Amino acid sequence: MKILFLNGPNLNLLGSRQPEVYGRTTLADIEAEIRQRATKLGVEVEFRQSNIEGELVTWVQEAKGKFGVLILNAAAYTHTSVALRDAISSVQLPTIEVHLSNIHAREEFRHRSLIAGVCIGQIAGFGAQSYILALNAAVNINLTQ
Ligand code: DQA
Repeated sequence: MKILFLNGPNLNLLGSRQPEVYGRTTLADIEAEIRQRATKLGVEVEFRQSNIEGELVTWVQEAKGKFGVLILNAAAYTHTSVALRDAISSVQLPTIEVHLSNIHAREEFRHRSLIAGVCIGQIAGFGAQSYILALNAAVNINLTQ
């Protein structure tokens, strides 16, 4: 099975970006940890980041038929992007929504996720560990389907 990890805007700044909210772990650190665990779990992963909404939409579209599960931290686009939501609906790819922070415990505008309704579930608030939890969930989804 192949799992696609997509990361939205400003996640390239992890490590130095608001460390009190997002921690000191960089996106490269998260990717390295995920790669190690994926090898042990016997799954292939691809890991990408973009600050551009349309690029993320294109990657979701292209994932159809190539990946078994999409793990998506849409970052700020979580709260604004009808286009990303529509892309997920269009490809019908099992998608897990991920956030480092607990979006429900933060500013009100972060409480609403436009993509949550088209995802299998949401993992939020566990810092970098949210990605590991999502990887484990993705592997188990595949086992039970
Ligand atoms: C985030 C939460 C979003 O509200 C925010 O815009 C981000 C990161 C998270 O991982 O906690 O950029 O998706």
